[in-house]
Amino acid sequence: MMKDRLSDLVKILTIVLFVTTSITSFSQEIPTDAAAISAGEALFNGNCKSCHRVKQKLVGPALAGVEGRAPSISWILEWVKNPAKKIASGDEYANKIYNEYNKSQMTAFTSYTDAQILSILAYVKSEAAKPDAPPPGKDPQVTGETGSGVPSSYMNTILGGMILILVLMLVILGLIVNALKRFLNQKELTAEDAEVVNSPYTFSSVTRSTGFIFLVTFLVASIGFKTVIDGLYSIGVQQDYQPKQPIAFSHKLHAGSYEINCKYCHTGVMKGKQANIPSPNICMNCHTQIKQESPEIQKIYAAIGYDPKTASYTGKQKPIEWVRIHNLPDLAYFNHAQHVNVGGIECQTCHGPIQEMEVVKQYSLLTMGWCIDCHRKTEVNTKDNAYYDKLNELHLSAKKSKMKVEDIGGLECAKCHY
Ligand code: HEC
Ligand code: HEC
Ligand code: HEC
Ligand code: HEC
Ligand code: HEC
Ligand code: HEC
Repeated sequence: MMKDRLSDLVKILTIVLFVTTSITSFSQEIPTDAAAISAGEALFNGNCKSCHRVKQKLVGPALAGVEGRAPSISWILEWVKNPAKKIASGDEYANKIYNEYNKSQMTAFTSYTDAQILSILAYVKSEAAKPDAPPPGKDPQVTGETGSGVPSSYMNTILGGMILILVLMLVILGLIVNALKRFLNQKELTAEDAEVVNSPYTFSSVTRSTGFIFLVTFLVASIGFKTVIDGLYSIGVQQDYQPKQPIAFSHKLHAGSYEINCKYCHTGVMKGKQANIPSPNICMNCHTQIKQESPEIQKIYAAIGYDPKTASYTGKQKPIEWVRIHNLPDLAYFNHAQHVNVGGIECQTCHGPIQEMEVVKQYSLLTMGWCIDCHRKTEVNTKDNAYYDKLNELHLSAKKSKMKVEDIGGLECAKCHY
């Protein structure tokens, strides 16, 4: 009996030992130090996040646990460097996931070193070990409205309503007083009562008095004046312009909940004048699979001439007519790359919290005063920009304050006007 038990125990122990050693030998190549993890995080966010999440399926599989799922670590290294080659080689696992993900191509990262890929795996592993975050969209930061309190447009409506109610109450009171007076005058009254009833301060005498007329005229005139002035100032200004778009595309979902980088879609921002509205090809990177059945997504298919049933292109295209929101007049020149790439300004500084907007609206005034105001206030981003080194030195030797955009010609008419 005793001997049997002992041999069972030995068996179990050897199995446990075998399993643990095999697991550790499996993952022993993945680094665990903080430096590798943070390097991996940057690489993952910059290059993998548009298609992968750690714990969630997106375009590609959730990467958590991949080191145990894939045939080996060296398999993963080869795959990331060249997925197409791995699939073409007839590799069983590669073809299995490729088919599982509707034959969508993962980008090849040919220039990655093993260390870089291992650092990504290190990051994935450390993220996978963390407890689950609350589901996307529930985050108060994402769902919260910008600013608190009652928006001024509501405030105006509420005030207007209150004034209207007051006037109505006055009119009704006046009518009641008149009716009562008529009724009382039909009766016999004592002299004292008659004096009260027929007092000179009747409703109509007050409303006809010069004081009252002056007050009302003054109020009406000043409200009218303010409206006209506001109207004049806002000619051509489209702040808060928020047209309905042909497809119910949500920045809150894509840029907020799914954290897709602005530059993934607005491909021009780092390179040139225009930020660009993405072509349907970019949407198709994901939507060949995601939400095929949605009528909104089918509008993308119609635009690009794609038949999801046969996964083929019909050649019949009909461009999506996005309504343009931000639009400077032709006389003004604005360049995105200059501000985003060279200046290092965040999109949100000018466009507001786009990642919280279900429907995009124009957040800033986009007037000349708005441009100039920022050029007066903002310091030039001279960090890591050899072009500015000399200028900055010159500037600092002449003036005490830091170099602002106005100091490099940001107020010259010809810089902004053709
Ligand atoms: C354009 C989208 C895209 C990008 C970008 C991308 N992947 Fe993938 N990845 C996929 C898809 C899709 C699959 C599933 C296989 C297939 O269809 O080719 C996949 C599969 C994988 C797998 C195998 C997963 C498993 O469950 O076995 C790994 C590992 C992987 N990707 C790592 C990466 C890493 C690391 C990066 C960034 C350096 C990256 N991927 C960037 C789309 C992408
Ligand atoms: C998945 C693709 C995608 C991502 C990611 C994305 N956008 Fe957009 N963006 C679009 C599309 C499509 C439109 C046009 C439809 C609309 O206005 O909603 C647009 C419109 C805009 C507009 C208004 C353009 C106009 O007509 O004047 C701004 C500004 C903008 N995006 C900024 C951003 C910023 C900032 C981010 C990152 C926080 C971002 N976008 C992320 C696809 C994207
Ligand atoms: C990087 C991947 C990705 C890209 C690129 C992308 N989307 Fe999406 N989109 C998603 C995900 C993920 C969802 C949410 C699916 C869900 O709710 O299950 C989604 C949802 C949507 C929905 C809501 C569908 C519905 O009925 O709920 C619309 C509309 C949409 N996308 C339009 C677009 C358009 C237009 C583009 C191109 C400008 C685009 N998407 C680009 C990933 C992407
Ligand atoms: C310094 C302010 C500023 C910053 C920063 C900025 N934008 Fe813009 N954006 C503008 C102005 C001004 C326009 C209108 C341009 C025009 O009509 O020529 C515009 C227009 C756009 C448009 C409409 C299409 C186009 O190309 O004109 C998109 C999309 C857009 N911006 C996206 C972005 C994204 C994404 C970022 C961040 C990567 C960004 N912007 C950063 C000021 C800014
Ligand atoms: C949020 C602040 C901000 C706003 C708003 C802004 N700019 Fe700028 N702008 C900058 C900064 C910072 C630079 C300097 C970038 C650099 O280092 O070259 C710059 C540079 C420029 C330059 C190049 C100046 C030079 O001498 O090289 C032009 C032209 C320009 N902006 C035009 C505009 C126009 C037009 C608008 C309004 C539609 C505008 N900017 C709105 C911050 C802003
Ligand atoms: C930083 C960029 C910038 C600079 C510098 C600048 N402007 Fe402008 N200007 C603009 C923009 C943007 C508009 C369009 C504003 C609008 O539509 O409200 C504009 C509009 C104008 C208009 C047309 C006004 C209208 O209501 O249509 C005139 C005239 C003008 N600018 C003259 C000048 C002169 C003169 C200078 C030099 C002293 C100058 N601007 C410098 C950006 C600039």
